[in-house]
Amino acid sequence: MNRVAGKVVLITGAARGQGRSHAVHLADEGADIIAFDLCEDIASNEYPLATEADLEETGRLVEKAGRRVVTAKVDVRDRAALKRELDAAVATLGRLDVVVANAGIAPLGNDVPVQGFVDAFDVDFVGVINTIHSALPHLDAGASIIATGSVAGLVPQTGLNGQQALQGPGGDGYGLAKKMLWTYTTSLALTLGPKSIRVNAIHPTNCNTDMLQSPPMFRTFRPDLENPTAEDAKVTFPFMQAMPTPWVEPEDISHAVVFLSSDESRFVTGQQLRVDAGAGLKLGV
Ligand SMILES: NC(=O)c1ccc[n+]([C@@H]2O[C@H](COP(=O)([O-])OP(=O)(O)OC[C@H]3O[C@@H](n4cnc5c(N)ncnc54)[C@H](O)[C@@H]3O)[C@@H](O)[C@H]2O)c1
Repeated sequence: MNRVAGKVVLITGAARGQGRSHAVHLADEGADIIAFDLCEDIASNEYPLATEADLEETGRLVEKAGRRVVTAKVDVRDRAALKRELDAAVATLGRLDVVVANAGIAPLGNDVPVQGFVDAFDVDFVGVINTIHSALPHLDAGASIIATGSVAGLVPQTGLNGQQALQGPGGDGYGLAKKMLWTYTTSLALTLGPKSIRVNAIHPTNCNTDMLQSPPMFRTFRPDLENPTAEDAKVTFPFMQAMPTPWVEPEDISHAVVFLSSDESRFVTGQQLRVDAGAGLKLGV
């Protein structure tokens, strides 16, 4: 239960979903947590994002695990605010060892305006860069940087069986952001290797969170229906993976995050780790 004992971990998008799961699993393994989230909606993104109550609950769960936590309402698109809140949190907790750049949106849909492209790219790529670059001055040898990508985002936008893989301008922005994370993390791993700071990306397939369980995602997976439900989408969710499952759970991603955060992975860097039940094998990415 002490795989990351004494480490301090920054997690963005920590109020719910994968981010909250990472916070709880890392706290269970002995880490203190800096938990940031926007806690507001973004207009082009049809499904609601997390709330301040969600972020408070993450904080409560970390404390319940016996660890310290600093929570703050921060927009990863705002580098100045990120840096200010992170500097204050590191001053409180004393150090920073691991960065999990996890916050994301998926404003999918053919009716989404061009602003959806801007928002998806700004959160899913620029937000990751802002997070990591704000953290770099705090990181020393042994530190680990983890970016959350997406297997679906790696599929060419011209798509699957002649269909656009991720629909609309927001889908284009999401896919571009996740593809660019691959090259960004590879370059950064090479740059930080001599400093013994590691950089890896994790690419989940469908993961059972509010992002997946949302009307835009249901329409993506059931383009044949006008108003598909969760049950309609669950019929086709499994087609994505080689293994017989509609999705992975947040804790399946957290296990990889704990490994990459811990010294067990001390020589693992520059990896693009798919936690995807074989989706990448099927999609050829
Ligand atoms: N759920 C999936 O099927 C799936 C698949 C592959 C990759 N991913 C990726 O996993 C990551 C986590 O998503 P999730 O599945 O937990 O979804 P989620 O919607 O439950 O969680 C995303 C979190 O990010 C926060 N957030 C959004 N914009 C923000 C901003 N500008 N600043 C700070 N916080 C912000 C939200 O409030 C929310 O708490 C994302 O990067 C997503 O792209 C998800």
